[in-house]
Amino acid sequence: MEIKYPIYNRSFTGNEKKYVLDCIDSTWISSRGSYIEKFEHKFAEYTGATHATAVNNGTAALHLALMALGIGYGDEVIVPDFTYIATANAVKYTHATPVFADALSHNWQIDPAEIKRKITARTKAVIVVHLYGAACNMDEIVSICKEHKLYLIEDCAEAIGTIYKGKHVGTFGDISAFSFFGNKTITTGEGGMVISDSKELIEKAFHIKNQGVTSKVYWHDVLGYNLRMTNICAAIGLAQLEHIDEILANKLRVANAYREAFRDSAVEMHKQEEGTLHSYWMVSILIEKADLREPLARYMREHGIDSRPLFYPCHIMPVYAETNDGDFPVTDQLSYRGLNLPSFPELTNEDVKYIAGTILDFLKDNAE
Ligand SMILES: Cc1ncc(COP(=O)(O)O)c(C=O)c1O
Repeated sequence: MEIKYPIYNRSFTGNEKKYVLDCIDSTWISSRGSYIEKFEHKFAEYTGATHATAVNNGTAALHLALMALGIGYGDEVIVPDFTYIATANAVKYTHATPVFADALSHNWQIDPAEIKRKITARTKAVIVVHLYGAACNMDEIVSICKEHKLYLIEDCAEAIGTIYKGKHVGTFGDISAFSFFGNKTITTGEGGMVISDSKELIEKAFHIKNQGVTSKVYWHDVLGYNLRMTNICAAIGLAQLEHIDEILANKLRVANAYREAFRDSAVEMHKQEEGTLHSYWMVSILIEKADLREPLARYMREHGIDSRPLFYPCHIMPVYAETNDGDFPVTDQLSYRGLNLPSFPELTNEDVKYIAGTILDFLKDNAE
């Protein structure tokens, strides 16, 4: 059956086309042009950060954040085992070692007690990931990092619009990274942003993302990279940001419709914790029996509904299998029991009822 409900869908209903045409008409299509600064400025304002610098994707944003902090050979960086692989890979790019920490079962985010357990004399930083749009336990994590003098990086790739105790995520640590990939809450096609309250860190990030060039033409005083965002991407990002409130409101409506549909069932939906605002990048569920997940996904596809499994534990990936032994029982549980459901803002409440109903029908037919 044709997929009627993809996992994500985009519609560009604001100034996206107008701003992109403006780039083309003005010929400013590369990484210089007025939209870059405007997007950076508006993004900083939206999140409440003091400074922002745009990059070409979210992985680059993480890599750049680590480089700006001077993370490198011999350092260890604690990262969640339950995350998209880019979080760990960014650490590896710097030649530091990612050390995995297990998740909490109630909010699926990095367990602060695990962070404490994994600290060694070589630990330099912690990366927390606000996975699927839910906030990590920032009070505890900030206090651990302060006590042990560790840098704190927030991976907010999936968490634009996520609030913890009144503040946007990404404003608790030293430096933070966002992604604007095509399926993210706001997109630039490919793109990312680094934010920080430290002018020095953002100036360093700017320098590194810009080939390490100095004020002297063609003089490069550090090993730099080209991680710049184009003016066209920034134009799309600015237009997207102009209607982010509407996008988030609709995503919340969709999440609430799922919650209502799954009420009193055995399906467990990713929760919004007290004192936080979940931005529901992906509405995610757990089913009781891991061995039913694949058959359920197949059944959904036969009914025109796409889904994604939750991320696999990083430590089982071939690249990390040797360096990270140990037990990650919570991540293992979540990873094999979970699914992401169609989560785009244009879904109607009727669409959600159909999707949830299909899932519940399958589970009823397959109950022992
Ligand atoms: C948690 C997380 N970190 C980092 C990234 C990397 O972002 P990008 O795909 O823009 O490189 C992603 C997503 O795609 C992500 O989900």
